[in-house]
Parts: sequence; structure tokens; C-alpha cells
Amino acid sequence: MRVTWFLFSSLFPNFIAQLQKNRMNPRRSFLKKAFIASGTLSLSNLAHKTLAEDVADALNGIAQMTPDFAARQETEWNRIRQAYTTSTSIINLNNGGVSPQPKVVQEATKRYYTYSNEAPSYYMWRILDQGREPLRAKLADFAGVSPEELAINRNTTEAINTIIFGLNLSVGDEIILTKYDYPNMINAWKQRARRDGLVLKWLDFDIPITDNEQVVEAFRQAITPKTKVLHITHMINWTGHIMPAKALCQLAKEYNVFSLVDGAHTFAHLDFKIADLGCDFYGTSLHKWLCAPFGTGLLYIRKEKIKEVWPLLAAPEQQDDNIRKFENIGTRSFATEQAISTALDFHQAIGSATKLARLNYLRKYWTEQVKDIERITFYSSQKDEHSAALFNFGLKGIDAGPLHNQLFSSHKVHTSPIQWEKVNGPRVTPHVYTSLYELDRLVEAIHQAAKV
Ligand SMILES: Cc1ncc(COP(=O)(O)O)c(C=O)c1O
Repeated sequence: MRVTWFLFSSLFPNFIAQLQKNRMNPRRSFLKKAFIASGTLSLSNLAHKTLAEDVADALNGIAQMTPDFAARQETEWNRIRQAYTTSTSIINLNNGGVSPQPKVVQEATKRYYTYSNEAPSYYMWRILDQGREPLRAKLADFAGVSPEELAINRNTTEAINTIIFGLNLSVGDEIILTKYDYPNMINAWKQRARRDGLVLKWLDFDIPITDNEQVVEAFRQAITPKTKVLHITHMINWTGHIMPAKALCQLAKEYNVFSLVDGAHTFAHLDFKIADLGCDFYGTSLHKWLCAPFGTGLLYIRKEKIKEVWPLLAAPEQQDDNIRKFENIGTRSFATEQAISTALDFHQAIGSATKLARLNYLRKYWTEQVKDIERITFYSSQKDEHSAALFNFGLKGIDAGPLHNQLFSSHKVHTSPIQWEKVNGPRVTPHVYTSLYELDRLVEAIHQAAKV
């Protein structure tokens, strides 16, 4: 913790000093809020400040509000937007694919990279590598689990493949999964099934999913004495639906089978701890909602299950019971890895509850303005318990691809076109830096497309 904090604070003394100063001086922030409320404080009369200080002020401002109140404070969110290097030529509403990093994270990565290049074997292996354990502890603290249960890796694909190929399974063993899981995982299970004769049982659902009890019941009905794993996608990427992961992990426990959670879209997006789920395995990508450097992820394995999983890349026998056996991947980017810590600092400065409240607010902001269009179909339920930032819609008579192209050519709105099973439309995913102006452009683009 101390190493990463030292590295971060030495990189961004102004940013950190401002955060600490304001934490110690709530009156100053209160006065500023009063100014903001009266409209007398704007970016232009803050010109004497650095942008980083201004962002820090905004973060401190929302930290003192309830999440729902903070979610509606456009002035503060417009200032937080300045923490990012947003595009001036397109409106990026595909933050579900991968998220951009705040400037502090970009700068940390660059700085560690430059530092590594001064003498790579010394600065990477002897200096920066010392940051891995403090980073593990910090991530574990955030996730509510033990550091001895967290491996730092490159992404969800690596995490979930580690489990799929690492469990001892044999001919006839059954795996329950759904038609809406992620293709990398579907392919991994299919490959393992081809190699080892596993039986894959596919669940299907009506879309949008509106009843999570039915989902749990469908899993329950599919369980047999041969079932070994429930594969659970915490948030379905095609639609944004939040699956009842906790109830499904409980179900797995009831039947003494493994629960494997693909959490690509939920870590630092939903307000929860990995520990809350009661799962055996959970994998996520930190370059999605945490806004950490590209190519960063983590794998959680419940302590007593570690010895039951073989690492994808071999480790010495003495590590059989050690979570670090999943980190023997050879030389990797230490710069990228260490900057995860800065991303976590930034996320925590906003706070999980406030971030989720803002993302829910943004989803409602645009969906409410298009929901009455005659041709529109929503592939996700609008309720907070069912969806957060990711949301998918279609227009009758036009496929996802052409509709996506139309939104882009008319308003430069970048979404993610999805045609998968019963889903046929662009997925829209704002992030904390998305402005209401950008969502207004989206709404206008959808109305325009619906008239054609
Ligand atoms: C549900 C789900 N799982 C896994 C992944 C893969 O993530 P990554 O490419 O970071 O491994 C994604 C990517 O969008 C996803 O949506």
C-alpha cells in the first residue's frame, strides 16, 4: 500500500495534496458548493487552478453528497469529465467494450514505463515488482476478500479460461451455462468439451429478462448428479442484464458444485464486494469499469479451492496452494500493472455507490426520452435491479449494423452493434465522463433513425 501510495503521490503531488486538503477542510468545499449553487463559480473563474485541482475539488464535492443527489450534479460531473481525454470528434457510447483511463492513470502508466526503460531488469523486477503485493492487498480490500485469494492478470478471458481449463473434469461431467454467455467463454467450454467429453447444457431465456427467480429456477432444473459447474455471467454483455449471481452461487453451494462468475462488467460498476456473491471463482477486466490500463484484470479463487485448479501456465509444486501460481506468465508490463492502483484511487474518490447512481441516472436520462418511439424494442429491463450503464435497444425493420452506422453517420455516436440470439440492436454504454449533451445527441439520432 505504502509503495503504491508513494509512487502515486510522487507522480501527482498537486492532485493528492488537493484531495487531502479538501478532506481536512469540508468548510472550504461547502463554501464552494454554495458558490456553485449560486452560479458564481465556473471553470473560467477557476482558471488560476490546475485542472487536476479542479477535478479533485469536484471529487471532494460529490464525496460529501448522498449518491442519488450527487448523481444529478451536472456541474460536478462536467468537471470530472475534465479528468479524461475525451474525443472531440466522436461521442463514445461503447464504454462497455473497454473504458478510457483518466489522465492520472495514463500519466502513471507513462511514468512507470519511462522509469522501467532506464534499466528494465532493475526497475521492473527489483523496484516496480515490489508494488505487486501492496496492489494485491489494496484490490483485495476493495473486493472484500483476502489478498491470498486474488491473482492479478491481464483480463477476464485469461481469468475464466484459467478455471475452465484448470479444473479436474472428466467424460460425462456436466456444465450449465446460457446462450447469452460471452463467446470467449463459450468457445473455451466447447474446446474443453471436445477434448475431455464434457456435456454442456445451454439455458435460454426470453429477452428482456424480467424475472430473476425464473433464471435461478432454470439453473436449478438443469442440475443433475453429474453437474460440476454453474457458469454465471454476472452482467450479460449483449443486453446489460444483471443476473442473480448471488442466488446462483448459493444454488451451486446447495448442490455442491462449483460457481464460476464472469464479472467482466460488474467490478467497479455495480456497488458490491466479490465476497458478497459467495462464489468459488470470479474473473474481471480492470480496463473496463475501473478505468485501469488496457490489459489488466484479476482472478478471485476462494482460498480452499486454489489447490483444485491447475494454472494455465505451469508453476512449481510448492505453489499448489498459493494464488500466485496463476501469475507465472513471464515478463509483462509492470508499468501497466502498477497503474491499476491509481485507477482504484480515482474510482474510490468517486465512490462505488455514487458511480452506480450516476450511471443509472444516465441510463434513465436517455431511455426515458426514446421509450415511446413506436418502432423501439428494449432488450433490457429499465429497472435498476436489472440494468445499470449497459443498455440495448432495437428499431423494428432495421438490423443492428445498419442502425449503428446510421447513428454514427448522422450524429457521430459510437455504439456497439449486437446481433446475437434474440438481440438485434446497438448497445449504448455511457460512463462517468459522458455528458447530458452527448446523450441528447444520441436521443436526437435515435428519433431521426426511427423516422426513416
Ligand atoms: C461478459 C464478458 N466476459 C468477458 C469479456 C472479455 O473481456 P476481456 O476481453 O477484457 O478479456 C467481455 C468483454 O466485453 C464480456 O463482456
